[in-house]
Amino acid sequence: MSLERPIVFGNWKMNGLREDGLALARAVATAPGKGTLGIFPPATILREVILAVEGSNVIVGAQNAHSEDFGAFTGSISAPMIKDVGGTAVLLGHSECRHGLGEADADVWGKAEASARADLLTVICIGETDDERTAGRRDAVLRRQIDGSMPRGSDVSKLVVAYEPVWAIGTGKTPSESDIVSAHAFVRERLDAIFGRESRIPILYGGSVKAENAAAILALEGVDGVLVGGASLDAESFVRIFQAGQ
Ligand code: G3P
Repeated sequence: MSLERPIVFGNWKMNGLREDGLALARAVATAPGKGTLGIFPPATILREVILAVEGSNVIVGAQNAHSEDFGAFTGSISAPMIKDVGGTAVLLGHSECRHGLGEADADVWGKAEASARADLLTVICIGETDDERTAGRRDAVLRRQIDGSMPRGSDVSKLVVAYEPVWAIGTGKTPSESDIVSAHAFVRERLDAIFGRESRIPILYGGSVKAENAAAILALEGVDGVLVGGASLDAESFVRIFQAGQ
């Protein structure tokens, strides 16, 4: 089953005490419009957020998962645990994990395999740093990350790629429209080469998406949706982003 476009996912990161998160979730759950809405709260309130949006079509997932299902991995949560509390998706390979926690492509691959085993919707984040962009290595980095992070042999209908240029995250900067189009075209070409043209794995753009720029970004060739950080913490902004894609 393919996800209805536009796909608008909100990564709450390390934000949202219980009452704030539940109020935000309830507001998102009543958002009018066609497409696919998803929210990724901190693990501390994952179960309560799932209950808060029960009855809506909002996808609720976790922001990371371990490559193992169970074991002595202090501070981690696993794909079966996410599924166990009703989560249906997981973000993996976010740049804040790749660069902040030293996650290598192979680590993301292992996590994605575990997520596939648990039948979660797996959103794999990729993106180049400013230095890599400046050195003209964007496509080489994206190819390495795709080739090294994407699980083979799993249900491709449960795979999503989020292209998030690291230098656009939290900065208010975004690539030019032509650069977003070219990056998504490159990612699409690579995904088709690995999974076949029929796979049609959705490609989201992430990095300083706001209510003000969402319509233009969502209208771009090759953009199937967006992965939103800061603006997803404000219900009105997040709903405006979703509606911008109608
Ligand atoms: O995962 C989405 C996030 O990294 C983007 O953050 O604040 O630039 O929308 P932001």
